[in-house]
Amino acid sequence: MDGLLEGKCVVVGVCGGIAAYKAVDVVSRLKKHKAEVHVIMTESAVKFVAPLTFQSISGNPVTSDMFSEPKKWNVEHISLARKADIMVIAPATANILGKVCAGIADDMLSTTIMATNAPVLFVPAMNHAMYENAIVQQNISKLGSLGYLFMEPDTGLMAAEGEYGKGRLPEPQAIVERILREVGRAKDMEGKRVLVTAGPTREPIDPVRFISNHSSGKMGYAIAEAAIKRGARVDLITGPVSIPKPQLANVINVNTAEEMHKAVFERYQQQDVLIMVAAVADYRCKNIEGRKIKKAGESLTLELVKNPDIAADLGKVKGDRILVGFGAETHDLEKNAVLKLNSKNMDIIAANDVTQDGAGFGTDTNIVKLFKRDGSVVELPKMSKREVAESILNEIVKILSEKK
Ligand code: PMT
Repeated sequence: MDGLLEGKCVVVGVCGGIAAYKAVDVVSRLKKHKAEVHVIMTESAVKFVAPLTFQSISGNPVTSDMFSEPKKWNVEHISLARKADIMVIAPATANILGKVCAGIADDMLSTTIMATNAPVLFVPAMNHAMYENAIVQQNISKLGSLGYLFMEPDTGLMAAEGEYGKGRLPEPQAIVERILREVGRAKDMEGKRVLVTAGPTREPIDPVRFISNHSSGKMGYAIAEAAIKRGARVDLITGPVSIPKPQLANVINVNTAEEMHKAVFERYQQQDVLIMVAAVADYRCKNIEGRKIKKAGESLTLELVKNPDIAADLGKVKGDRILVGFGAETHDLEKNAVLKLNSKNMDIIAANDVTQDGAGFGTDTNIVKLFKRDGSVVELPKMSKREVAESILNEIVKILSEKK
């Protein structure tokens, strides 16, 4: 009993699927971490596992019927929605994903999901053909872009059909580890120091004009926030953006690429991990006019000179530190990303095709492919930037633990 979830309320939603029995193990593990656990079952879930099983293990009444809620819950079926620190839907069927996606709230589980402000983690498990169905994938993508959290199903032999494919419920231990990361006090980056660059740089032309790009800072800030949640101390070196600063990060505001380079190099030695998300201008004006340039001839020529490449310079001196970069690509994604990975001596590059819908600059979602030093590739579907951040940190944590 480690108490990592002490004081936390986890609402587990169980849908009707062969994997429902595994949710019993999830509940049991949550109890071992001292969580308060409440189970809501769909009508079909009770055909797979008896509610009494969940009741005995969670120590709380189980419901599947909105109209016979246990008295304990103050009549309102939304009491649990308010009480939850996180809702975990495992197994999540195509049916519940479709319902939530369409805004349908017609039973205890869908109503509670709709009424909660807590994070909702869907753990889909279903027949592999159903999982790959375009409608299901669209629903997952839409829910992901709305901030719902997802775990990918495992690939393997499907219990019911004896077929091989992607659709198995991940192991209960993995589900609980994910819950711990979201709301628990499990800190797999405890004691680590992480430096993140984020946002655009602004390269002045004259006192009122500059060269910049569309970076909003969302991707870098999501990484900083997720690393803080995992226990890391974070230095966030940010170009000018208009989103809220992550609480608990040491935020250093800069404007130009040269300022960002200086801020990074003043701090990189104390770090374990360096994550370069900023969209740094490759060039700056050779001469910055002291006074506003007046409109004169039909054309105006600006002479640009190369900015320092922060990631490449870090690659030369990084030593044992983990260096992660991003590749903003519009074409030849793999070729360009791998070139940057190697030339800048990175451990991982997260390449995003910024021409794709829901990817790159300004969006709340991203679509990235992670190219790693060992040649392996992790292809992530469209997810919220927070989810992308978690996936990148998972890879970093793996490398950190290999280095131990
Ligand atoms: O901020 P958002 O709106 O959320 O958008 C996110 C994003 C699109 C900015 C992000 O996902 C992204 O792709 N960031 C990298 C942008 C970029 O400049 O990519 P690049 O391929 O030009 O550079 C490759 C790497 O070198 C990057 O890690 C970059 O930070 C780094 N670099 C580049 C030039 C330079 N002078 N110094 C650098 O450190």
